[in-house]
Amino acid sequence: MAAFAAIPTSTRLSSITMPIVARALRGTTPVVAVRSMHLWKWQEKKPPVEVTPLPVDLAREIQMSKPLPMLEIFRGKPLDGRTLEVLDIGLNRHRVPVTLTDKFAYRLVKFLRLIPDTYFRGNHYMRAVMLETIAGVPGMVGAMLRHLRSLRKCQHDGGWIIHLLHEAENERMHLMTWMKCLKPSTANRLLILGAQGIFFNAYFALYCISPQMAHRMCGYLEEEAVISYTHFLDALDQGKLENMPAPSIAKEYWNLVPSATIRDVVLAIRADEALHRDANHHLSDRLLIGKEDLREEAEEALRQTPEDLAYQGKEAHAHEAGVASHSLRSQ
Ligand SMILES: [Fe+2]
Ligand SMILES: [Fe+2]
Repeated sequence: MAAFAAIPTSTRLSSITMPIVARALRGTTPVVAVRSMHLWKWQEKKPPVEVTPLPVDLAREIQMSKPLPMLEIFRGKPLDGRTLEVLDIGLNRHRVPVTLTDKFAYRLVKFLRLIPDTYFRGNHYMRAVMLETIAGVPGMVGAMLRHLRSLRKCQHDGGWIIHLLHEAENERMHLMTWMKCLKPSTANRLLILGAQGIFFNAYFALYCISPQMAHRMCGYLEEEAVISYTHFLDALDQGKLENMPAPSIAKEYWNLVPSATIRDVVLAIRADEALHRDANHHLSDRLLIGKEDLREEAEEALRQTPEDLAYQGKEAHAHEAGVASHSLRSQ
């Protein structure tokens, strides 16, 4: 009895409860049994946690900070397919590479495109998922590095950080939308994991060395995204893919009509990609000429009428600055 008392309480408990658990697990596979036992042991060691109440202001902030679309047109009246179809996004716009870094970035992106072209071929949904898991990285890396630079230099960032975060969120919403349409296999999830690990580190290193080249590369990636979504549309139009009803997350985010379909979602996402393309080329150009502060042009854009801010070619840049301007002064 004295020897039993010398045994730590947790071990004594285990000696009593283990046979009960073993009986309960009888008939399960060894893997399930081992996993369940592991989980049970882990729970036993976990100390009781008294959860701090959710602050009301945090709850309010979470409710208020729901993802907002980037293009002004998605914030007006609900859109149907016909309106999306005639949206001028500069479908075939291409930024001709001029400098050596431009040419390298362009060739690199064209080379990288071969990987999904070979692996996914006509699997447009999985290709879109893969593309969006990568596309959500540059904005976050750029915003993080510019945020740190603003802290280091103790000076304003010039209006970039919020835009880049918004771009990253927009790409994540593309991904959330496609995740409502398919369930990636374990192999594809591993591929996503590996691709993120490689791409994040590579893009981070590139942004540290040359932000100008990083944004140029991103601009070319977005050009390819526009092409990929055009192929997606072609597959829908040719009947290779069923034009299913749009998921509710997409209808809510892009403010689409209740009868919206996947085709409308692809049109909306392609418009987003076109904006990312123009915005990233613009940011790269500004770095090239050493004129980074966007605030002055944003003020100028806000003085114009809403019609002048329509998403048309070069005006897109002014619009872009306008989107980010609500928080320019506090950045
Ligand atoms: Fe995207
Ligand atoms: Fe994009």
